[in-house]
Amino acid sequence: MCGIVGYVGKDTERVLIEKLKQLEYRGYDSAGIAVKAEQKINVFKAKGEIKNLEKTIVPLKDAQFGIGHTRWATHGKPDEINAHPHVSSDDKWVIVHNGIIENYLEIKDELTKKGMSFYSETDTETVAKLLEFHSRKVEDKMEIISETCDTIKGSYALAILNKETNGIYFAKNKSPLFIAKKGENVMIASDVICFYGFADEYYSVEDGEIGYTDANTLVFKNKFGEVVKNPIKCDFGNYNNANTYKHFMIKEIYETKNAIKNIIEYYSQEENRNKILLRKLDGIKRIKIVGCGTAYHAGLMGSKIFEEKLGIECTAYVASEFRYQDPKIGDDTLVILISQSGETADTLAAHEISKQKGAVTLALVNVEYSALAKSADISVPIKAGVEVAVASTKAYSSQLTVLYILAGLLREKFIGDKFNMADVEKLYNEFDYGNINNFKLLADVFQYNDKMFMIGRGADYCTAQEASLKIKETSYINSDTYYAGELKHGFLALIDEKTYVVVFATEKNVLSKTLCNAEEAKARGAKIILFTCFDLEPSLTENFYFVIKVKELGNALQAVLNIVPWQIIAYYTSVNKGYNPDKPRNLAKSVTVE
Ligand code: G6P
Repeated sequence: MCGIVGYVGKDTERVLIEKLKQLEYRGYDSAGIAVKAEQKINVFKAKGEIKNLEKTIVPLKDAQFGIGHTRWATHGKPDEINAHPHVSSDDKWVIVHNGIIENYLEIKDELTKKGMSFYSETDTETVAKLLEFHSRKVEDKMEIISETCDTIKGSYALAILNKETNGIYFAKNKSPLFIAKKGENVMIASDVICFYGFADEYYSVEDGEIGYTDANTLVFKNKFGEVVKNPIKCDFGNYNNANTYKHFMIKEIYETKNAIKNIIEYYSQEENRNKILLRKLDGIKRIKIVGCGTAYHAGLMGSKIFEEKLGIECTAYVASEFRYQDPKIGDDTLVILISQSGETADTLAAHEISKQKGAVTLALVNVEYSALAKSADISVPIKAGVEVAVASTKAYSSQLTVLYILAGLLREKFIGDKFNMADVEKLYNEFDYGNINNFKLLADVFQYNDKMFMIGRGADYCTAQEASLKIKETSYINSDTYYAGELKHGFLALIDEKTYVVVFATEKNVLSKTLCNAEEAKARGAKIILFTCFDLEPSLTENFYFVIKVKELGNALQAVLNIVPWQIIAYYTSVNKGYNPDKPRNLAKSVTVE
């Protein structure tokens, strides 16, 4: 969702635009920058893509520093007026903001009574006006910012310019904010990825901190005074904008095998395994897994793996439901929160509730410096490397792989069976990306289709859910998922000769049942695409429209091999339809608001 950048240095507007483009993947619908040049703060804003913003920028002489923002509308429609930066009435304060000011209506009301007026529908504008209001009685800028932060409630990462100061102020609560300084140049960003090509280390701004930076200064303060910080090393993994792939999505799919290698390397080290094995987890009687979107699907699969390996109750929940369900958890519960970004608002709220109720929390995250990773009792990295495409691919495969390892480690801890990496090594050795020509053939067919179904039983149902989500997100096809056994209870009525039904059949114990369901759909005219890992008698499959066969692994990591073809098919279907698979319409990579 929204993104923040700030820059102290020459060529300010070019650098800000370049960095905003790096944040595009998070999803946005307007953008803007504010640059101090020629003794004033120049603000440029535009609805839609950053290229619209670029067209509005006039050349500036002696630009010195500035701030920028990509906005994903929450309060007020996506237009130029509501786009950030927002400016105080006296033009002295200019701000960009990520997060939500929960008490903005109250503040707006108060300030209106005191004679102030508002031009936008945003919560952010109230912060700009509050800064102006507090500066009527206080001189010191840091104090003004501190008083403003004391007044606002909610989440915020703020980058702030003041007309009288030659630098950038900042403040943070709950929304991520980072700063890197290189010589006289400084970069502020809500996503560490912006430092790619700029710096090798950065500082993390913590909740409740405010600060100031310019060419010579970088200072952080909290309510106790100045804070001295250690820099953190940047880890960009294999992130590289100048890649040879046309889109991040396909690049990231093809990084899956390497991600599995990283996982093996990381969890083969005793000290990393001990982060789980040496934790006090006495008395854990049940496990709840929570996530959104793809992360929830990984959780669904994970719940099956945990129940099988540990023999205790394990249920997966969608975070937005979990948080309002008064979940039955206590100190006998391990809550595993899965999130690629570690920033998803519903997942963070689910974490907070779990902590309040006394559960032990474990975060399975890709972004290791994220809010979720920092706040959970145990943080377990999935080692997928930076994922940019909105549709999650390698992160899902890595989540499944690490869940399998985690289940093995907990089994060692609870039951005593020594964990070994053999199954994961087998996955790595057997891993391949499949017959790409076959996948392209299917994508050629799917592009003309606006409705399809995916069915399966057990773990295959979880794969069907995730495969279906990939098709929906990237290709805008109405793809629905059903338990194969539910066919006769309604879904058969939807089938006609134009219907494609993908049947996932990689679960041995229910194979014959699932094949029967495929026949039932076929008999009603459906075109069946059978997905299996078994060598089936030709007579069993000759009536089907298409058969995809993957390798048989013989354990729950089969789910990793099973999803990759569908990620590739979804990608090519999207490209065939002329869409940008990296940025599906209306969606954002990190959903940082409820
Ligand atoms: C959004 C993204 C999905 C992602 C989900 C959860 O909906 O578009 O790709 O699976 O959020 O994100 P998280 O970062 O918590 O895994």
